Amino acid sequence: MKEKLEKLKLEALNEISNCSDESSLNNTKSKYLGKKSEFTIVMANMKDLSNEEKKEVGMCANVYRTILTESVENKLKEIKEKELNERLEKDKIDITLPSTKINVGTKHPINMVIEEMEDLFVSMGYDVVDGPEIDSDLHCFEMLNLPKGHPARDAQDSFYITEEMLLRPHTSPMQVRSMLANVEKKPFKLICPGKVYRRDDDATHSHQFTQIEGLVVGENISLADLKGTLEIFVKKMFGEDRTIRFRASYFPFTEPSYEVDVSCFSCNGKGCPLCKHTGWIEILGSGMVHPNVLSMCGFDPKKYTGFAFGIGIERVAMLKYGINDIRLFYTNDKRFLHNFDRKEI
Ligand code: DAH
Repeated sequence: MKEKLEKLKLEALNEISNCSDESSLNNTKSKYLGKKSEFTIVMANMKDLSNEEKKEVGMCANVYRTILTESVENKLKEIKEKELNERLEKDKIDITLPSTKINVGTKHPINMVIEEMEDLFVSMGYDVVDGPEIDSDLHCFEMLNLPKGHPARDAQDSFYITEEMLLRPHTSPMQVRSMLANVEKKPFKLICPGKVYRRDDDATHSHQFTQIEGLVVGENISLADLKGTLEIFVKKMFGEDRTIRFRASYFPFTEPSYEVDVSCFSCNGKGCPLCKHTGWIEILGSGMVHPNVLSMCGFDPKKYTGFAFGIGIERVAMLKYGINDIRLFYTNDKRFLHNFDRKEI
């Protein structure tokens, strides 16, 4: 029996080493170790042996089983490794091949300006807030010191949806909303970018455009703070050489009110068609928050003052990028938008 096991072992080892795939290896394994294998038959016949022989043959059988099991495991490992290497070889990717160009969109110039301004004001400690594009007459006018019948309402020719609700004609209602939402009536600084709507439609006006409202409320906020803030804004957006000029103006929600001009960046103030030969370009409206507005919104005007400003983003973008027709921003002409692509180098 021992010889038989020895012979079987050699035969099995030989067959195992000749296996080239997993299924033939499984077959070989069951042929030499499985339930119907000769090994099993030998084991079954052991009961007829003497005790001495049983011990000897038993030991041989254990060695036989261990050696064959190990050999099958090693062979399996070898086959798997070979298969993996073959697969890797087949799936090899040539990363040096040129790739197909993916056409990604461009950032819209209006959003580029908004993001630049947000970064700037956030760096000065402002919050950025959002508000609804459909708002009430109360927020858009009445609480901004523009009661019904006020002549300044006509200038803004708004889109009313009902008697009380309208598409906001400016971002200034966000002044009211943010002061009302400030329950503790604490000082704050914020900007609010967003879409606004008016009954306009020509090369420099669109029925829908974008503004950024700014509002700072606190103790001892003065005109000097407004001036310093706008100076930083203008220099960062249009260049360090720019200067600003305050022109007295009128807005019902600020007192005093100013329109702010920036020195023309095309002619440097000498006079050219861009600045209509004045040397100055108007860019925003601003002023000190009217005490009526503060008190209507729950801020005590004896304790608090504030400044506000409203900037037309399209105007800033047109000046910054030399665009002469506001409608280009909204017609989605790819040739226009691709001017703002990231450059490929
Ligand atoms: N809301 C004004 C407009 O749309 C712009 C404006 C002027 C905003 C003065 C302000 C401000 O905050 O103080 O024409």
